[in-house]
Amino acid sequence: MPTTFPTNFVWGVSTASYQIEGAWNEDGKGENIWDRFSHTPGKVANGDTGDAACDHYHRYGEDVALMARLGVSAYRFSTSWARIQPAGKGAVNPAGLDFYRRLVHDLHQANIEPWLCLYHWDLPQKLQNGGGWANRDTVLRFGEYAEIVAKALGDGVKTWVLINEPSVFTTFGYLQGRMAPGVTDFSDFIRATHHANLAQGIGAQAIRASVKDSSIGNALSLSPAHPRSDTQADLEAADRMDQFWNRWYLDPLYRGSYPDLATPLLEVMGVEPGDLGLIKGCTDWLGVNYYSRTVVSYDPDVPLIQATPNPPPDTPKMALGLEIYPQGLEEILVRVARDYGNPRIYITENGMGRHEEMQDDRPIADAPRIAFLNASLEYLGRAIAGGADVRGYLVWSLLDNFEWDSGYAERFGLVYVDYATCTRTPKRSFDWYAGVIERNGLE
Ligand code: FCB
Repeated sequence: MPTTFPTNFVWGVSTASYQIEGAWNEDGKGENIWDRFSHTPGKVANGDTGDAACDHYHRYGEDVALMARLGVSAYRFSTSWARIQPAGKGAVNPAGLDFYRRLVHDLHQANIEPWLCLYHWDLPQKLQNGGGWANRDTVLRFGEYAEIVAKALGDGVKTWVLINEPSVFTTFGYLQGRMAPGVTDFSDFIRATHHANLAQGIGAQAIRASVKDSSIGNALSLSPAHPRSDTQADLEAADRMDQFWNRWYLDPLYRGSYPDLATPLLEVMGVEPGDLGLIKGCTDWLGVNYYSRTVVSYDPDVPLIQATPNPPPDTPKMALGLEIYPQGLEEILVRVARDYGNPRIYITENGMGRHEEMQDDRPIADAPRIAFLNASLEYLGRAIAGGADVRGYLVWSLLDNFEWDSGYAERFGLVYVDYATCTRTPKRSFDWYAGVIERNGLE
């Protein structure tokens, strides 16, 4: 098992605008769906909001310094669409673009390559008022926004991430309603999935037209689907879950088609002639966000997939209830390499959520996180040895931050954030990761 990684392997960390920036209504920023959702009582645990979050908008200099100390060569962040285009279309807010210009400038000064993600779930509220991702017009608006950002920042940003985890924000935001925009409508949801795929094709065109030497990827949430039992019903349920969660996004990109499960729905989804051609091959690389596997049982009551997550009760879990299952990373990478023509891959997120409180200014001793990340990297090494073309790895996340509907209770950072004072204190995992980066491998 290799404990060192290929030369030029990229080591990084990831964050997202709404989860860290704060400054929700400063310098001309427009309202987005997470502002609206978190300001609606009862939607987010503990009534938490991203209004102030980690105050990264004002403290980004400190955060760049932390990353320089960590030794990363890449930083994936996202731009807040409503900070740049407050209404989601039309007028640009120059102060919004300036913030990201300053950030990109400071990253270069610190020898850290900016990886800019255009969409990490914070849709301008004005676009949601017109249906959001259920409305095909949002795809065109996304193309315009991509062009604006590419033209403004393309000199300093070469690596672009189109859309973060379309499966997650469509399922939880438009079907189950537990995340913004809080919609629970099957046809809105199913259209949103196709529009998110299509927006990648349109967005990639806009970036290529404006940025010289661009490198364009995405960030899919991938999770091996395993049957809870070996009954035929559970085996088939796991296959449907795989089509729904993984192939719904992989197949259009690499095969120009949707999996069989989607066949009866193509019209409802709003798939038009030419759409799949725009999506196929639109990226230069695949971004994989990996947290856990999905164990499922047959459930006739769940529309479309007739399957429901049903993790074994006796396996170790993270705070969010996800099974601790780092070996799934190797499985999914080897499978993608085999089934999709061995694309270039970056792990755009991997991490562990925990409930942590600092005591007496002592750094958090987050041994379970270190164990999970270390094991994930071992399985990643095995996937590379098995032929997967993985070029880099980015931890979720640099900082503790606003964990969507769970609010601030769930901490994923290598750095602890005291939300009352916004003080940042590196955890033990920070030093562990600095060591991995330094030796380009595990101990
Ligand atoms: C992913 C999201 C990211 C973060 C992690 C824990 O699904 O992309 O924003 O919330 O989970």
